[in-house]
Amino acid sequence: MSQAQIIDGKTIAERLRAEVAAEVAILKAEHGLQPGLAVVLVGEDPASQVYVRSKGEHSNAAGMHSVTHRLPADVSQADLLAMVDQLNRDPAIHGVLVQLPLPKGLDEKAVIEAINPAKDVDGLHVVNAGRLAQGLPSLVPCTPLGCMILLRETLGDLSGKRAVVVGRSVLVGKPIAQLLLQADCTVTIAHSRTQDLPAVCREADILVAAVGRPQMIKADWIKPGAAVIDVGINRVPFRDPVKAAAGKTKLVGDVAYKEASAVAGYITPVPGGVGLMTVACLLKNTVTAAKRIAGLET
Ligand code: GUN
Repeated sequence: MSQAQIIDGKTIAERLRAEVAAEVAILKAEHGLQPGLAVVLVGEDPASQVYVRSKGEHSNAAGMHSVTHRLPADVSQADLLAMVDQLNRDPAIHGVLVQLPLPKGLDEKAVIEAINPAKDVDGLHVVNAGRLAQGLPSLVPCTPLGCMILLRETLGDLSGKRAVVVGRSVLVGKPIAQLLLQADCTVTIAHSRTQDLPAVCREADILVAAVGRPQMIKADWIKPGAAVIDVGINRVPFRDPVKAAAGKTKLVGDVAYKEASAVAGYITPVPGGVGLMTVACLLKNTVTAAKRIAGLET
């Protein structure tokens, strides 16, 4: 049986980060402009701490100005909004990212809406979501942007392909559906209420899994030869009872990778696929925001 070609997010993300670093060097040398990213982390969520550290390290490595603000889980909504306001006004900062999820009691939507849309490198502000839906220049959420780069790299022109996105989140499902539509795909957004989900998935030349349910998508949901993009990052206990008893966990995607690889034409691994592209795209978005704010790009 033939095996799917692995879509190598690690190599593609490394190349994108190198391109961003080269562009940062040119902006500094030719325009005295150093793109700056501020990340706000509220509370102690362990996964968020790992992601935020990685964002800081990679932005420094690309030659960008990088600051991380850590606030306690019991910070008030008013104090968090004041922090966002301060970053909106800071001329050294071109990208503001508030790591999600926020601890209970904080109003995530209100915090995102408080970010200056021009600095919303997460692309989550309604202005950016609306501009994306209308095909206008916007800041595009990082994970969907990363998925599109992987797909274009793998398949080239996406025009006319049938794409099925499983999941309708604001962070991934909805924006990636918009991007696939812009790329002239025929797009279906499927979700937990979709009838006969396996049959819907089997129609896809491009299947994007963004549901957050470990290994939900099985081999017989996949059209032979399809490109499968697995956005899921789920932490599950090891099957080995000794490791499981020791509390050890591993990362798996939303796709049953091993069996799916025997049917798909192309597939992203977890880890090593989409996840690495997200940070690279955050850096790219920060450079885009800096250039737009400086009037160097529309
Ligand atoms: N938490 C998990 N993914 C993301 C992301 O892309 N942006 C933010 N702000 N928080 C996240």
